Formats: sequence, C-alpha cells, structure tokens
Amino acid sequence: CGIVGYIGHREAYPIILKGLQRLEYRGYDSAGVALFDGTDIKLCKTKGKVADLEHRVKDEISTKGTLGIGHTRWATHGVPNDVNSHPHYSNSGNLVIIHNGIIENYESLKKELLKRGYNFKSETDTEILVNLIEDVKINEGNIKLGKAVQIALNQVVGAYAIAVFDKTKPDEIVVAKLGSPLAIGIGEDEFFIASDASPFIEYTKNAIYLEDEEMAIVRRGKDIKVRKIKDDSLVDPYMQELQINLEQIEKGGYDHFMLKEIYEQPSAILDTFRGRLRSNEAIIKMAGVEDNMKKFLNANRIIIVACGTSWHAGLVAEYIFEDLARIPVEVEYASEFRYRNPVITENDVVIAISQSGETADTLAAIKLAKSKGAFVFGVCNVVGSTIARETNAGAYTHAGPEIGVASTKAFTTQITVLTLIALRLARAKGTISSSDFRTHLIELELIPKKVELALKSDSLVQTIADIYKDTKNFLYLGRGYNFPVALEGALKLKEISYIHAEGYPAAEMKHGPIALIDENMPIVVIATKKGHYEKVVSNIQEIKSRKGKIIGIVTQGDESVRELADHVIEVPETLESLSPLLTTIPLQLLSYHIAVMLGKNVDQPRNLAKSVTVE
Ligand code: G6P
Repeated sequence: CGIVGYIGHREAYPIILKGLQRLEYRGYDSAGVALFDGTDIKLCKTKGKVADLEHRVKDEISTKGTLGIGHTRWATHGVPNDVNSHPHYSNSGNLVIIHNGIIENYESLKKELLKRGYNFKSETDTEILVNLIEDVKINEGNIKLGKAVQIALNQVVGAYAIAVFDKTKPDEIVVAKLGSPLAIGIGEDEFFIASDASPFIEYTKNAIYLEDEEMAIVRRGKDIKVRKIKDDSLVDPYMQELQINLEQIEKGGYDHFMLKEIYEQPSAILDTFRGRLRSNEAIIKMAGVEDNMKKFLNANRIIIVACGTSWHAGLVAEYIFEDLARIPVEVEYASEFRYRNPVITENDVVIAISQSGETADTLAAIKLAKSKGAFVFGVCNVVGSTIARETNAGAYTHAGPEIGVASTKAFTTQITVLTLIALRLARAKGTISSSDFRTHLIELELIPKKVELALKSDSLVQTIADIYKDTKNFLYLGRGYNFPVALEGALKLKEISYIHAEGYPAAEMKHGPIALIDENMPIVVIATKKGHYEKVVSNIQEIKSRKGKIIGIVTQGDESVRELADHVIEVPETLESLSPLLTTIPLQLLSYHIAVMLGKNVDQPRNLAKSVTVE
C-alpha cells in the first residue's frame, strides 16, 4: 500500500492526489482520502484506481483544506471494496487513519474491543487499530493523540506505517513506522508524509526516513518531534537530501513506464558501471566490495536471497560467481529461506537483491542471516531503502526509479552489479586470467551499445506478438546462463498479459513440458551461439518434430536455428556470461506488446504490486 499526508499552508488535496498516483506502484486495488476542511473531516474512498477516486471525489466531497491523508491499497485483510478501503474512522468519528502493513494480533485486539462496545464496518485490521487508539485515548483520560498512538502500538504485533489525525485537534498528524517505509518531507511550515519521497520531490529536497519503532508528530508551524515507540525517548532524526528529480518519475513521451524503462536500459546499465569499471586500466572498483574483501574471500559460500525478478537475477549470478570466481553459491527464495531454519555460519556471505529495498520477506531473511553472524551484502536500487540500511554493506544498481510493476531495467542492472562483483572477486582470487578479465571488462563496456541494437528488434517482436497474442500457453526454454532468462521471460508474460507461461531448462523439457507441445504451443527458445548451442539446437529439433511453434532468440548471423524456427530474433554477439543482458531484451518487449495488444494495464497488472511490504 501507499500512504500520503500533508499539513501546511497549501491545499492538501492536489498534493495528496498526485502523490497517490506516484505511489500507485505500491498497490491499486482501492484508494481514498480524508481532508480536514476547517470544521469537519471530508472522506471519500472507493474500490479501484486513484483515477476512480478522483472522479468520485469530484461528485461527492468538497476538497477544501490544508490537512489531509490519502491511501492506495494492496489488499491483505478483506477483499478490495469501498468499505475496506482506507482511510478508516474510529467509532466516534474523531480519528481517521491510513495504514500500510499487517496487524498480526488483530483477532485478539478485535475481541477485546468488541467486548468494550466497539463495532466495525470493514474487515480490515486497520479499523481495529484506529479504534484501539481511540480506546486508549479515552481510557487514559483523554490523553494526547501521540501518546495514545504510542500506547496502542506497544500492544500491536505486526508491521505498519500509519498516519492518523484527530478532528478535535486538527493541527497535527501522528505517524509511526515498523516494517513498512515512511518518509517525511520537511518544507517551510509544512510537512509531507509518504511511503517514499516521490509525492513531495517538487516541494522539498529535505526528508527524514523514520526508522523501525519510531513515531513522529508533525505539527503546523512547529518543529518535527521523533520518538521511540517503545520507551518514548526523543530521537535526533537524520535529515537526508533527496537525489531524485521529477523527470525521472514521469513517462517522458512513452505510452507506458514499462516501455520507457525497457528503453532506458542502455543508459541504466552504463550508470551502473560508471565509475566502477575502467577497462583500459583493467580495474573494477566498488567500495562495498573493497572494504569487505576479506569477508568475500574467506566465504565458504555465498547465499543469495531475493524474491520475484530479483531472484532470477540471483540465479544468473549463481552461474557467474561459480564460473568466474569459483565460489559455491546457493540461491534462495527469501520467503522459504527465512522459515526453513537454514544452516548459516559466520563464514557465509549473504547477498540480498531487491529493487525496492523494501520487500518484507527479503528483509526478514537478512535479519535472520545477520542474527546468525553472516555478513550481509545488499544489491538494491532504491537509495536509502530499508534493505540498503539493514545490510552490512552493499552496491546500488543506479537504474533510476522503476515504476512499471513488471521489473525490467532493475533486472539487467542487478545482473550488471553482480557481474562486476563476481569479476572483482575472481581477479582477487586469481580464478580468472588477466587477459580473460580484460576481455570481460571490454565486453561489459560494450553492453549498453549492444542493448541498443537488441532494442531494434522491437518491430519484429511486435509482429510476432500479434501472431501469438491469443494463445493460452507459452513455454520459455534456455540453458546455462540463459535458463534464468527463460524463467524471467515467462514471468514477464504472466505478470502483464495473464497468459500462462512456464520457464524451463531446455534439457529438462523432455521430463514433462514436452507433453504440452502441439501445434498451438509457442515456445521461446534462447539459443545463442556460445551457450551450449548444439544442445539447444537438438532441443529445438525435438520441439519441431512435435509441431510446436518456435521463436528463437539467436546470435546475429545465426543460420541453423533460422532453418528450424518459425521466427528468429537476433541479438548481438557477446560473451556467454554477459548474454542474459541481451537475450532478456526481446523477451521484455514480447510480453509488453502482447499485453498492450490484449488491452491489459501494463504498468499496473491486476493483483500485483511493485513493492510487497507484507510477507
Ligand atoms: C514484486 C514485484 C516484482 C519484484 C518482486 C521483488 O513481486 O512485482 O517485480 O521482482 O516484488 O521485489 P524487489 O523490490 O525486492 O526486487
């Protein structure tokens, strides 16, 4: 979910509305606002997108007021409908709250509140929380809102970022954080509250990111006060200067953020290795790696934890690390790792990969690994994100904000960073010759140009998309370095077109998926020259004899696959270890075009969210 709030001298509604649009990547099942108009709260909420909210607000409420909060939801407790949407009132109608996260002990809290005469309109845990706050406030002798929030939160188990205000004291908003992110923008006599800084970057560059178990009270015309929720001690918050600008979070002429982000990959990859790689001097420099070289070199193994697309980048990294640096690697779904009682020792290095730096399962996996003494290294895109702060060291991907829910440039830049790390370690360990090392650096430097060339397949991919857009199933096959690319290609298609797709190691096809193949089944096969080419060609033959439709992703100038396949899409030649950076491109475009042709919402596919801050 995304939360936004404003208190100051401007009209709150336009700021909140725009803020919600920017935060829609965090969830878009439903949306709502609550504004204080000088005498009362005006609340409007609805199932659907922020655009639906905007229409409804026009018809239903006045948007006057310089204090307000807004929410865009990704449902956890209770189906997406009007009633379950946020904000939620307390029973008296005095308090109103927005919440991102999950209250785990909601049932026992609810039971207690029911006994005390409270009733609930929605099925949400959030409505329980706002009534708990109200109950505390009244019972403790009508104490201040901040105090009541604090006492209530000390009874709560779970995760939250909340913002709450009281219409009987409409000059302050109380916010608190545990597990879910919360940024506070500090302007002149005004405060902005949001899940990330994007809603307020045009108003202020100064922000405070609350830490876990901290709360803050923002008061009109007063300084911000930050306290520890547990013991009420005052905290001196760290004020950060924001680096992002407005242009980076707008579409810039493209129809969708996803397409813009696909096309940004040449420059994003360049930004990722800029300043880190100097091929003419045969140097890779990454502070986070240099400072912790001993840890890496003494590691018995590397465990990579991640979710979704980031997990696929981890799988590619497994090939690179083992191949070049000869370090054993295990790649784990963070959600499985954290609950498996895994064997972790002080000699393990854990690499956590996360675009957002906020994924709850990945964060929990990091905390577990740290508690067992492992050294944890983060590969994140969002600067200052929770995972970036929780890890012992790390390297940013520098891809710039990724807004489209289906991850594209984050994936290729993650692979770029991980390749740099693997190469640096290989050099330090002596598992790569200096000439091989140099070749890798030179080839890596050429990748942005080659990605640009790979993007030229766009119109061909569009034609292929048109032919297969109405099929119900897709199979993606690859071997070696390109097996994870097959998984990622299938995931992209599923995510945004809702077509069932499976990724498989090409050789494993004969142990199951081959049974699915008939003349209606399109099969995307990654068959680049250097990656077990002959073996993949045999696999293609097996498909052909079962009448499957073959879409080959091949190296420029390929002939053998061209003879067998129904379509071929060429990518420039490169080293096998770098080929995922190129073979991924047509697969991103294929899923994009199919989804557009099917009329799907590419940037905000149903049921998904960009940043999943619940487990
Ligand atoms: C969500 C997103 C995916 C992403 C995954 C992990 O499911 O929709 O695109 O790969 O979370 O996110 P992270 O921010 O940790 O990379």
